[in-house]
Amino acid sequence: MVYVAIMGHGVVGSGVAEVLLSHKESIARRAKEEIAIKYILDIREFPDSPYVEKFTKSFDDILQDEEVRVVAEVMGGVHPAYEFTKSCLEAGKSVVTSNKELVATKGAELLEIAREHNVNYLFEASVGGGIPIIRPISQCLAANEVIEVAGILNGTTNFILTKMIREKMGFEEALRLAQQLGYAERNPTADVEGLDAGRKISILASLCYGKHIYPDWVHTQGISGITLEDVAYASSWGGVIKLIGQVRRLEDDTLDITVEPMFIEQSSQLAGVDDVFNGILVKGDATGDVVFYGKGAGKLPTASAVVADVIDCVKHLKARKYLYWTDGTKDLVKPYEQTVYPVYLRLQAEDVPAALELVKTLLPQVKTLSRPQSPAGELAVMTGPVVVARQEEAVAALQEAGVKVLSKIRVAEF
Ligand code: HSE
Repeated sequence: MVYVAIMGHGVVGSGVAEVLLSHKESIARRAKEEIAIKYILDIREFPDSPYVEKFTKSFDDILQDEEVRVVAEVMGGVHPAYEFTKSCLEAGKSVVTSNKELVATKGAELLEIAREHNVNYLFEASVGGGIPIIRPISQCLAANEVIEVAGILNGTTNFILTKMIREKMGFEEALRLAQQLGYAERNPTADVEGLDAGRKISILASLCYGKHIYPDWVHTQGISGITLEDVAYASSWGGVIKLIGQVRRLEDDTLDITVEPMFIEQSSQLAGVDDVFNGILVKGDATGDVVFYGKGAGKLPTASAVVADVIDCVKHLKARKYLYWTDGTKDLVKPYEQTVYPVYLRLQAEDVPAALELVKTLLPQVKTLSRPQSPAGELAVMTGPVVVARQEEAVAALQEAGVKVLSKIRVAEF
């Protein structure tokens, strides 16, 4: 019998308890050991819970109990999850987590502590909810150099965009629905403004390139500026707008890493990833494109990934799994203004032909786009690849000439 503790009894934590009990026999078969919950840590009361006798408010109960070999940290946030995780690892307990904020900000340090104490720190659930992605990248694709990762990494924003596009549902209503369904973060700004996806692409980049890439180094933009007009232009161009987390290794070995809305072509594998689903495309030098798809948020999908890590820890109580990266430095990341990509612009001008001529002098390979019922004075264009610094100079020159720049959105190249 192996005893585990669960820290946190929110959406994911209650799912972990539920899966551990409902799948008790098959889990025992796969782990080759029976797994029992000894404690559930939460400061709240759960008098009606079927696990009521397992609750504690004291972290020390878990830390001091040598029978607890594996701890599932599903509290979210950096503090006190960081202090608790560190203490557990130092006490020789393996820790599994869904806490992307903690892995993205303290991953290198916690992995090092786990290595020093010969225990495991696993975080399959931190990216992609129920989709296997950490283990496939670190094990199944280990023979590859990863050239690029591009993903729809946030279920809430994908759900909101899908509702807006398909049902013309208002932003606020779609967000409320995502919260009711347990997809959104406690503070949904982290979803809407791209921070959650930024944490996830940081984790994937650290895993692929072996150096910690911190979320602060990732150029991050959310979906709050996306309009139905832009969606209509994307559609008549033959694509969709999605919030994409992307990292690609450039020729000079720096990383172009961003989270931003992008125009993506309908033929892309990510174009059909809708609702709460996530899709992650990993381009390996040997494999070419490999795509992972599934539910990226929600109680049971995420709990399934946490419990799989618990099982893996129980199977490796004496041996450490190789999942590791070292600390990184900011010069690994290409400054955003030096990155190069094609861009879409939506403009408003009194003299549209003159505005178009001006755009053509400022930016390369300009093509015009159209949409049904566009108002007089609206102009939408797409360019060839152009460095961001030059895009920004062009925007300033257009505004100087009295042309309003209503939208500027990256065009994906995968
Ligand atoms: N808020 C996150 C999302 C939860 O919507 O994807 C899963 O990490």
